[in-house]
Amino acid sequence: MSRTILAILLLVLGLGLAGPGKIGPALAAGSDGDVTSAAQSDRITEPDSWRAIRQGEAGYIGGQPAARGVLIQSEGEIWRNVRNGKLAVWAGWLLAGVTLAIAAFYVIRGKIMMEGGPSGQTILRFNKMERVGHWLTAGSFLVLALTGLNLLFGRWIIEPWLGKSLFSWISWAGKWLHNIAGFVFIAGLVMIFFLWARDNLWDRYDWGWIKGGGGLLKKGVHPPAAKFNFGQKTQFWMVILVGALVSSTGLNLLFPFTMGDIHAMQVMHLIHTALAVVMVLFILGHIYIGTIGMEGASTAVTTGYVDREWAREHHAAWVEDVEKREPKAAE
Ligand code: HEM
Repeated sequence: MSRTILAILLLVLGLGLAGPGKIGPALAAGSDGDVTSAAQSDRITEPDSWRAIRQGEAGYIGGQPAARGVLIQSEGEIWRNVRNGKLAVWAGWLLAGVTLAIAAFYVIRGKIMMEGGPSGQTILRFNKMERVGHWLTAGSFLVLALTGLNLLFGRWIIEPWLGKSLFSWISWAGKWLHNIAGFVFIAGLVMIFFLWARDNLWDRYDWGWIKGGGGLLKKGVHPPAAKFNFGQKTQFWMVILVGALVSSTGLNLLFPFTMGDIHAMQVMHLIHTALAVVMVLFILGHIYIGTIGMEGASTAVTTGYVDREWAREHHAAWVEDVEKREPKAAE
């Protein structure tokens, strides 16, 4: 008696766990995963079954979402061709092109120097919280960019150098790092949004800054700017908006089938990769200006202080404002 009750219970539980999966005409599978032709039960001929499979109809796999019953999903072939073809080729050319353009800018314009020379006096540009926000976003992005580009290009560029086994080990570790760094990046993104969004709204200095080419093209031109100039605002909103899209599509890939079926995931994957490359292109320029491209900028995100001459040349309105509000901020 108790055995019968147990058997009924197991049957009911089993049905519940299997969920309302669709039993398509193509295939049926036992709960142990063996896939058998539905023709046996539905009197559908074998050619009918295989035609249905080729057209992407979903079969049934015990305990799995219906979408996983698709044996042949033809869009997968299109996805693979776009990913390994147009997307990878365009991404490669753009990355090489932007790197060369930055190098040419460096050769032609040279390092942007403090024209009045360093004053020796500093002013606090970013407090600790702002620097933590910057490096959470920047550090994780660098890990994401390197490990992501390895996924996109590594097989062609790195594998021939390192050999299959070392490359596969590095890529496996890189994929784990990529998954973890994604969460750190999201945390950094939220942090810099709350810290800096207000300072990145359009203000009365922006139009003048655009007309003056941001002072980037000609020596001696310094259009005034508040805490952030129009170029930085563009980069900030790009990081926030494109970063949010790259993050949400990344989460969709990290938790498969939670936000869509396999086709939606293929589309998300292409969007994720294309937008991530767009971000890398922007950030190449940002890293250039933050390091070798401009004298006096990098300490803003390391010690937090910048030379007062640098601040006056690039953010005159901000310096005035800080000095008015907190005379002690200038040391
Ligand atoms: C080696 C890498 C990096 C360096 C050396 C660097 C350097 C800098 C510097 C010097 C500033 C301050 C500019 C100023 O005081 O006006 C800054 C600001 C900023 N950084 Fe970075 N950065 C790096 C990577 C990144 C990455 C990867 C991101 C985002 C994914 C990022 C996002 C930002 C944002 C949003 C700001 C504020 C707005 C702006 O100045 O453009 N940074 N960074």
